[in-house]
Amino acid sequence: MLSAPPSVITDPANWGWRGRVRRLTGGLIKPKPGQVEARHRLAEVAVRQYIGGARLVMVANPKGGSGVTTAALMLAHTLATLRGGSTVAWDNNEARGTLADRAEVTTPPTTVWHLLGAFERLAGPSGSAGDMSHYLRSQPSRVDVLASDVDVARREQIGAGECGRLGLLLSRFYRLTVMDTGNNPRAGNWLWAAHSADVLVVPITLEVDVAQTAAFMLDSLVAHGLKDLVSGAVTVIRPAVTAPEAQVRAQLLEYFAARTALVVEVPFDDQLAGGKPMVYGRISEASRRAWVAAAAAVADRLAAVHSTRPDQMTPPPPPQHRPSPQAQSRAPAPSPQHNTADQGGGQASVTALPVRRSQAQ
Ligand SMILES: Nc1ncnc2c1ncn2[C@@H]1O[C@H](COP(=O)(O)OP(=O)(O)OP(=O)(O)O)[C@@H](O)[C@H]1O
Ligand SMILES: [Mg+2]
Repeated sequence: MLSAPPSVITDPANWGWRGRVRRLTGGLIKPKPGQVEARHRLAEVAVRQYIGGARLVMVANPKGGSGVTTAALMLAHTLATLRGGSTVAWDNNEARGTLADRAEVTTPPTTVWHLLGAFERLAGPSGSAGDMSHYLRSQPSRVDVLASDVDVARREQIGAGECGRLGLLLSRFYRLTVMDTGNNPRAGNWLWAAHSADVLVVPITLEVDVAQTAAFMLDSLVAHGLKDLVSGAVTVIRPAVTAPEAQVRAQLLEYFAARTALVVEVPFDDQLAGGKPMVYGRISEASRRAWVAAAAAVADRLAAVHSTRPDQMTPPPPPQHRPSPQAQSRAPAPSPQHNTADQGGGQASVTALPVRRSQAQ
């Protein structure tokens, strides 16, 4: 369980009437933070917690327009801002993903294929973070964005092999990778992500077709032997254009709260609407707080998935038993499902509630 430093709870309030009292009295009266402010501070502590390892967060829902790209970018912004960088947002749509279009900084114009072209050099002993920066778009939030394939003439598609090489490079230079995914759960790159992910994030609206597609995806992941990924997942709900009937809302909330580990609601935000580039610094306060809660849920789940420290690993086999580097780069098999120290039903450190509503609600 995460233990927050005492100052998080005891430092005087900044929000609401408590904060106003403190300011009006010049700090003579210093009320403690209210429940909502204290919960937000704890969520920030959760986002910053020790996680260990190079981790992959897969954001997925095959239903088009369900909010996958927005959620991937907002989670990456929030994690990078609060954790101090070392986070990359990877657009793993097989072609023409929109993640890089939604970013604030859109240069350099390089994509996954350019990065793959530099694989041998970057994966070798002379590969440097500086060389790597030619392939990523650094954002003011300190997240770096890796754009998907945008070449209209290209015939090849990013598959599992390419993902293996990209994943290897990113894990060398970043501690956290947040991945936007496409709409075909049978595609090689999608399946590679599912088999490699430490945590799954499922963006939905409380609409029957969106929820059904997400439920179908969860079923197919279980059918692929990834039941821990499903039970440890975080569901992120954004408002639908039309609010659902109370009964539908209750049923869907209950379903995803039972099926996944944590459920977080985020509000509608003009800054995130219409598929336009998002300026993280301009999102609403309600939105910022809600995405901190969502990122806290992700960090809690990542912390619950065990990652072995290299000095505690069993020694590698003698050289003659190791696969050749050529074989490795030709077939970067999906990494096995993560260790699951505490999957599914595990309680969050911040709220200890299976349904975590955003503070903004
Ligand atoms: N919290 C939000 N507030 C306002 N608008 C939002 C929010 N989240 C998503 N949207 C909008 O919903 C639309 C769909 O979102 P997004 O592109 O993230 O979905 P997607 O699942 O990635 O879609 P695709 O299947 O096309 O890749 C976009 O126009 C986006 O701006
Ligand atoms: Mg998308």
